Amino acid sequence: MYKQIFSILRMVPVVFFAGMISLNAQPVKPFYMNENHPLEERVKNALSLMTMEEKVAMCHAQSKFSSKGVARLGIPEVWMSDGPHGVREEILWDSWGEAKWTNDSCTAFPALTCLAATWNPEMSAIYGKAVGEEARYRKKTVLLGPGVNIYRTPMNGRNFEYMGEDPYLASRMVVPYIQELQKNGVAACVKHYALNNQELWRGHINVEVSDRALREIYLPAFKAAVTEAKVWSVMGAYNQFRGEHCCHNDLLLNKILKDEWRFDGTVITDWGGAHNTMQSAMNGLDMEMGTGTDGMTRSVSNAYDNYYLALPFLDELRKGTVPESVLNDKASRILRMIFRTEMNSKRPLGSFASPEHAQVARKVAEEGIVLLKNSGNILPLDASKLKNIAVIGENATRSLTVGGGSSNLKAKNEISPLTGLRTRYGSKITYAMGYASGPPAYGREIPSKLNAETLRNEAIVIARTADVVIFVGGLNKNHFQDCEGGDRQSYNLPFDQDQLLDEILKVNKNVVVVLATGNAVAMPWIERVPAVVQAWYLGSEAGNAIASVLSGDVNPSGKLPFTFPVKLSDNGAHSFGPLCYPGDSIKEVYMDDILVGYRWHDTKNIAPLFAFGHGLSYTNFALSNPQTDKKTYTKAETVKLTFTVQNTGKVSGAEIAQVYVTQKNAPVLRPAKELKGFKKVFLKAGEQQTITIPVKVEDIAYWDEKTGNWKVDAGEFVMNLATSAGDVKFKVPVEVK
Ligand code: GLC
Repeated sequence: MYKQIFSILRMVPVVFFAGMISLNAQPVKPFYMNENHPLEERVKNALSLMTMEEKVAMCHAQSKFSSKGVARLGIPEVWMSDGPHGVREEILWDSWGEAKWTNDSCTAFPALTCLAATWNPEMSAIYGKAVGEEARYRKKTVLLGPGVNIYRTPMNGRNFEYMGEDPYLASRMVVPYIQELQKNGVAACVKHYALNNQELWRGHINVEVSDRALREIYLPAFKAAVTEAKVWSVMGAYNQFRGEHCCHNDLLLNKILKDEWRFDGTVITDWGGAHNTMQSAMNGLDMEMGTGTDGMTRSVSNAYDNYYLALPFLDELRKGTVPESVLNDKASRILRMIFRTEMNSKRPLGSFASPEHAQVARKVAEEGIVLLKNSGNILPLDASKLKNIAVIGENATRSLTVGGGSSNLKAKNEISPLTGLRTRYGSKITYAMGYASGPPAYGREIPSKLNAETLRNEAIVIARTADVVIFVGGLNKNHFQDCEGGDRQSYNLPFDQDQLLDEILKVNKNVVVVLATGNAVAMPWIERVPAVVQAWYLGSEAGNAIASVLSGDVNPSGKLPFTFPVKLSDNGAHSFGPLCYPGDSIKEVYMDDILVGYRWHDTKNIAPLFAFGHGLSYTNFALSNPQTDKKTYTKAETVKLTFTVQNTGKVSGAEIAQVYVTQKNAPVLRPAKELKGFKKVFLKAGEQQTITIPVKVEDIAYWDEKTGNWKVDAGEFVMNLATSAGDVKFKVPVEVK
């Protein structure tokens, strides 16, 4: 008896622990969730478990900035946010309104024109990492940026969001931003693919452009984003190209992006960029956003089942007019993006509005500011020699992190130029607004209620007695003034700034003009102003960066990513009549073709106000002894151009050596020279370095429209070693066999 009881009791712990183990045993993970399996196998497995309805539901929005995952299978939703310069505040579920959260005030990083102006891929890397950490912390799957549309005209309202006029510079600068951003497990979304080079009529204008200009000018930065940075999503542009909307354009999306460049990610519309179910299905679109919700095309609220890729798409699939393989490709691309982001358990946790990110914003700003003119070395401003510094201009105090459209930010901090200058120069600073532009407003301009005469007189009073005047003007990301949804209406500075400057110059010759713009502007006063600084839209640390540069704490090292023409008619896009820009409201023909920016100025011999790649320093540099490793190259080889850079001045600084290539006696029209290499060199006073810039012979190809492929002719070429497109120091001949 006792033995029986004991033998049973003896089993209790065994049963107990066995039970515990089975209760605690990790549930067997579904195959698609097991990160030990290859990504493609997981995608296939998840796809095989999904219904047609679940696959279709992934291909379109469920709210303003999100799309469905597969709740039944534990596959997360996709959450997106603007924008390229920082993580936009939370937007409401079904309208463009702000959600008024109190935990989403971010770091505002400099606009991408400033990043491009650093000509330093390391700045792109730290920028992409920081903005990616903020997007990750805000739990976003996709950050809707960077934008790399080419700067074709100074009138484009969104140039401030992009990386300038040259495809090679934009390509080099966009890759590290995307690579570092995506290391946070957040997808970048390179935009707006393609030919969205203006805001006027952006929703429909049908762009016609040659294959050469498309391939040599407008696509390279997108190609670099896809083939080098491996970007996980691409945003289709609003406009049309050769009669098809870019969000469902067979040539751009199927043939070039997905077939030729082997893009394996997700094509997302711009918001409201889809216009047709069959084209959306068959022409390469994967995810439709922004159609028909409040504030866009239709006022039906929560109209997500009405989307082209929603019920209408499901209908076509059920009828068999669209094969399920088309749907499977879309769903696979979206799953791939989700597995790389939301379902990547190894991704970091991110961080938000941190001191470290403020430092990144400041560093990029300080390296991107461009010193355009400094006659008489009026800069840097030595505090010990100055008693009275007058700061004049609305942009010295106006917030410039707001406005501009979808890249608008709710910044945790924003140091204005005036605050930065007061921190640096203390009570020496006096201030007068000088001019006023009116409150920020989207889609329209609201004039200021302030009296212009009074403002002007107050400015003249402090200008008269100042040792130096710092005029802080420019545009301001209001409608028509560097803002999405509208182009500029004048090449001149707005709000009578030119007149105000004339008045100031009558009472004080020592004027430093600081411009906050994302575009070139006319400078009728340039001969009378000793110093001009291009200060972009610098974000949270604007005032500190501007004060650092004006005081000489930082030696400016930025160079222009686009040309400043003297007058608008000197620009290529404005040299062929309205059909060339802005188009006839239906069609636009890029008759400037491959001659964009400095390519136009060089070929037509039009001297710019300031050249592409121009930027001064508080020190001087000398380039010397350029030589190539060989004289003759095959098409598969790389030209190595070696030379010495010396800092011949008294302070540390950085020079950006640039290599432009000329083809002599080309059988087709080619620009006089094209940027194919650059290097930023930091040198102490007196220091010199020997630098080598490689240029792959294949990179000096042009698009041969006869064969529909890239072509390098044998013959004579010249390696132009320069410090700007307007300042070639040496010409080194080479031959291609
Ligand atoms: C806007 C912009 C695009 C932005 C999107 C979402 O219309 O064109 O850049 O990411 O819609 O705000």
